Amino acid sequence: MDRRSFLAAATAGLLTTTGSVTSAGASTGTSRALKGDPFTLGVASGDPSADGFVLWTRLALDPLGGDGRGAMPSRDVDVDWQVATDERFSSIVRSGTLTARAGAAHSVHVELDGLRPGTPYHYRFRAQGRVSPAGRTTTTPEGERPLAFAVAACAHYEHGFYTAYRRLAEEEPDLVVFLGDYLYEYGPSGYTALAGQVRSHTPGKCATLADYRLRHAQYKSDPDLQRAHATAPWLVAFDDHEVENNWAGPVSSTGAPAFDRRRADAFRAYYENMPLRRASLRGTALQVNRRVSWGTLARFHLLDTRQFRDDQACLDGVRAGCDERLDEDRTLLGAGQWRWLEEGLHGSGARWNLLGQQIMVAHRDYRRGPGREVSLDSWDGYAAERARLLGSLAATSNPVVLTGDAHMHHLADLKADTDDPDSPVVARELVASSIASDGDGYRDRTWIAESLAENPHISYIDQRRGYIMARLTRDDLSVAYRTLDYISRRGAPARTAHRVTIPSAEQARA
Ligand SMILES: [Fe+2]
Repeated sequence: MDRRSFLAAATAGLLTTTGSVTSAGASTGTSRALKGDPFTLGVASGDPSADGFVLWTRLALDPLGGDGRGAMPSRDVDVDWQVATDERFSSIVRSGTLTARAGAAHSVHVELDGLRPGTPYHYRFRAQGRVSPAGRTTTTPEGERPLAFAVAACAHYEHGFYTAYRRLAEEEPDLVVFLGDYLYEYGPSGYTALAGQVRSHTPGKCATLADYRLRHAQYKSDPDLQRAHATAPWLVAFDDHEVENNWAGPVSSTGAPAFDRRRADAFRAYYENMPLRRASLRGTALQVNRRVSWGTLARFHLLDTRQFRDDQACLDGVRAGCDERLDEDRTLLGAGQWRWLEEGLHGSGARWNLLGQQIMVAHRDYRRGPGREVSLDSWDGYAAERARLLGSLAATSNPVVLTGDAHMHHLADLKADTDDPDSPVVARELVASSIASDGDGYRDRTWIAESLAENPHISYIDQRRGYIMARLTRDDLSVAYRTLDYISRRGAPARTAHRVTIPSAEQARA
């Protein structure tokens, strides 16, 4: 489509515009032609509300352009955008132009409001005579309309193809919840999977803004990932690898020099590459703890379990005999986020409350036989705050915890007292395996049986790659754990390895 017909369509669309749009600034970019397609990183949407959402794209002529700027010129570039109610963009309801700034790696974030609730929309961008692929998104409904959502995490690019993203997209969920390790900071072969690797990271371990931008561009150039983003709005939250393995608040796990600078650069690149609202970027900090409601049916409480935590106890790792992990005043969420969470859980008004967070809440004993070994990077390393969280969930309407990080599917009962098997279950925890991290999966039945015996509150573990598909109604949450038999080649089907239906408390009593 040429500029004239795109804009003509846009003008026609303006006639039906209601409400307002806020954009990153008035258009000031020049219009000299770019050589090539600037939409090599795809499009995305995120954080829907009842009347809007965020639209994202980032211009790059060559994703692997060596400076992290995608071989784009050092000038700003105007980008037109359109939102329509139909796939063919014959009913455009909103459009505009804003400037993709060179200083923001030519990323674009459009925040819309004033749209109709519970309505699917289509969107696309145009720059320099090129039109982007179209994406599909939605506003959230009013009331208790059912919700289909996917949960995913951990997508190491070297470890396998992104078939799981493709399968997830084919299921056309209303929402995708992504719980961290969207990318990994390691240099080529810095962390290899058992099955080897199918492709290579950009050179070097990420340390500078250019490194992180380049790595994001490499990941975003994957067509399966692009398809998953174009299919539905995502709710994203980072874990450790978007910055560095197992960082904690201001502390680098590797003693990286000037870690505050590195973290700020990683956050900035993350923001530039994700469909997040502009208010999330706050100087050198990034706020991803936030709430997204799906009518009165569900409220997602997305947590940040990295930025505000105390350093891991006992030098981190999986260890036995660490008393420090039990200290009353250790925090994972930080005081501010803790208060925010408590207020949100209790004042929610939603029938279901879904905590989207990174690391396992359930106690997980890794030692066979007597004694226990726990991961000090998980909630086991912050046991007192976990006890407070479980107390809070016990007073929350239908809480469910969604988790990433583990590279294995898990289903766990969260008990009011982790150490007492007779203690009541206050919530279920659904841990999504990885999209790609750790490569081709496997199923070690002996190890799984032993792990389940050590952890009787855990009823399912699966070491294969995959994601979770969940369908939520007022009465129950129906969960399918999807797995793929391989990712070292393309084309694996996704199958349902395990199912569970969680009734609401009201339904269980009925
Ligand atoms: Fe991971």
